[in-house]
Amino acid sequence: MPDIQIMPSILAADFGHLAAGCKRAEDAGADQVHVDVMDGVFVPNISFGPEAVKVSSAAVSIPQNVHLMVIEPQHYIKTFADAGADTIQIHIESRCDVEAVLAEIRSLGKRPAITVNPETPVESIFQCLENRWVDEVLIMSVHPGFGGQKYIAAVEEKVATVRRMADWVDIAIDGGIDDQTVTRAAAVGCNLFVAGSYLYKQDDMAAAVADFRKQAAAAYCSAL
Ligand code: DX5
Ligand code: ZN
Repeated sequence: MPDIQIMPSILAADFGHLAAGCKRAEDAGADQVHVDVMDGVFVPNISFGPEAVKVSSAAVSIPQNVHLMVIEPQHYIKTFADAGADTIQIHIESRCDVEAVLAEIRSLGKRPAITVNPETPVESIFQCLENRWVDEVLIMSVHPGFGGQKYIAAVEEKVATVRRMADWVDIAIDGGIDDQTVTRAAAVGCNLFVAGSYLYKQDDMAAAVADFRKQAAAAYCSAL
């Protein structure tokens, strides 16, 4: 079984106390911090840029999982790598040479990841897996742009397809993950779980992170 990892999304943290929000995730036992970068073009929202990654990487010692919801990620890879990103996720729907951008991420010593939107066929990322351009696949379970949306269960099919193709890849799921949907996603082969609003609204985030980990491990095992 691959590593089960929990990644709180700081999109749901208090932006006025961002470093504290990152620290809260680390103190709760999270494995990575998920940083949602939005350019207002690829998605209808603007969040934050490389400065937020700098703040987060200075505040915690766990890795930075950086999700680039930007139309032309090729211009910003080095900037985010220098800011402290450990994994850099680009979208298959973005306007770039995907192979070249993933290779650049790897050449900078970072983990390349490919992300696929709910309406995009999973076949679009097959070449990333067949050629091992990525270490991680991120399946969007909401339309990207905002936290707090409802989980789209139809994407579970894509997770299962990717898992059948590649037992070596990390599969992350992002959007609408809570104490119910974490189990569903794990049962089809996800091992990394991004959660924003659910985790940050908890009084006891550590208990919720531990519960995610326990539930995901149990569901993942029962699927095999
Ligand atoms: C959505 C972002 C997500 C978001 C998830 O565009 O990619 O990472 O923070 O938020 P929740 O967990 O609230 O759905
Ligand atoms: Zn995200």
